[in-house]
Amino acid sequence: MAEKSFKYVIIGGGVSAGYAAREFCKQGVKPGELAIISKEAVAPYERPALSKAYLFPEGTARLPGFHVCVGSGGERLLPEWYKEKGIELILSTEIVKADLAAKTLVSAAGEIFKYHILIIATGSTVIKLTDFGVQGADAKNILYLREIDDADKLVEAIKGKKNGKAVIVGGGYIGLELSAALRINNIDVTMVYPEPWCMPRLFTAGIAAFYEGYYANKGVKIVKGTVAVGFNADSNGEVKEVKLKDGRVLEADIVVVGVGGRPLTTLFKGQVEEEKGGIKTDAFFKTSISDVYAVGDVATFPMKLYNDIRRVEHVDHARKSAEQAVKAIKSNEEGKTIDVYDYLPFFYSRSFDLSWQFYGDNVGDAVLFGDNDPASPKPKFGSYWIKDGKVVGVFLEGGTPDENKAIAKVARVQPPVENLDVLTKEGLSFACKI
Ligand code: FDA
Ligand code: NAD
Repeated sequence: MAEKSFKYVIIGGGVSAGYAAREFCKQGVKPGELAIISKEAVAPYERPALSKAYLFPEGTARLPGFHVCVGSGGERLLPEWYKEKGIELILSTEIVKADLAAKTLVSAAGEIFKYHILIIATGSTVIKLTDFGVQGADAKNILYLREIDDADKLVEAIKGKKNGKAVIVGGGYIGLELSAALRINNIDVTMVYPEPWCMPRLFTAGIAAFYEGYYANKGVKIVKGTVAVGFNADSNGEVKEVKLKDGRVLEADIVVVGVGGRPLTTLFKGQVEEEKGGIKTDAFFKTSISDVYAVGDVATFPMKLYNDIRRVEHVDHARKSAEQAVKAIKSNEEGKTIDVYDYLPFFYSRSFDLSWQFYGDNVGDAVLFGDNDPASPKPKFGSYWIKDGKVVGVFLEGGTPDENKAIAKVARVQPPVENLDVLTKEGLSFACKI
């Protein structure tokens, strides 16, 4: 079988791979030195588009429109860009074996790739209901969303089941974004999740009450405190009913499942140190094995700001960790050093006419402020999180670019507050004067 050798190989062709490629070019890479190996058939793109404009009936996003790095206002890297730079994009190629000691990767088709430096950028995969043996979970039209092929299946299902019924299993990011996208497509949507409110890993009860009310006003039905335990299908094998643990049965032509992701580290199990479900790295995204780096969703890295080690499954970190790793690789070659990664967590989401941003850490006491009436024509509200007398996290729905900048600054500066009532009273103006 063919054997190819590169100075640098990135395994995975998602967000971090694309941003790493751009950084390699900025830092200087010679033609033929860098290869990206991806199981997807397309060049790196901004994954967040898949749960948003990709599914909209109007203003629909399609490739090549959202290749990286447009999501952060950067240059759009088309397949030709990689060609011009002499970067080998090896697509539709899944790596099935990695031998870090021998510096060798093997693809499903048996091709062998050798490298001097490896960047692991394999991202996450979806957790499936079939993983827990949920009865009937392999029926047709029970769909997941991670990659562009999954999004194409969703588009097909939406077209094929016009004015039909959908059940969304899960109340996290996918649950909230997909419920909105399907509703916009005039599908009758019911969300089901086990917790007392949506997105509990970030939202407080007060924040969630706004989104649940807003979604209800848009016609999304919400069933909380229970889970899907089985599915009935018709004679074509297509899903027809969702059976809930509390005994209820919901009709469904489409089921979308968003019950979490799992970092794709299996190829490297036993070869590299892991922590908190990811591959352990230092502040330069170097793993326990020399010449092997890990970035994006798979990396468990030191979060300097909180003196902690964490894994982050969001696009801003995917971009920045990739850039940090490439800068570290290149400076190392030149015998130079760079600053450690000093990351401020940043998450965001958009659905219907809503848009929120969150910066920092959601720990300690939470204080809600602003107009969080779901029926308001222009709702604008947020929450501060206060720990040890300092503001450590801020959430804002409906912020302007300047207001979002202000909350980012608060989360970074961590101003002291003596009395929490001040935050309730001053609301957003507290952030804007920091
Ligand atoms: P990413 O998943 O982007 O890329 C991994 C790549 O590796 C894929 O191309 C995959 O095929 C490939 N791969 C894996 N194993 C392989 C193997 N063995 N061989 C070859 N290739 C392999 N975040 C946010 O902050 N705001 C948002 O709005 C959204 N929206 C959003 C929507 C949807 C639908 C998803 C799924 C995710 C988001 N996210 C998000 C999260 C964000 O997209 C995510 O954190 C980044 O894409 C992570 O980037 P990575 O490069 O680590 O993985
Ligand atoms: P998530 O962790 O955000 O949410 C999972 C949800 O699944 C939980 O909140 C819970 O409500 C629910 N759940 C768990 N077990 C269940 C069960 N048995 N039945 C019903 N519900 C159950 O994960 P996700 O929404 O699947 O997202 C997957 C990945 O994609 C994550 O990495 C996420 O960060 C990423 N993503 C991010 C964004 C964003 O940042 N805007 C958007 C989409 C996806």
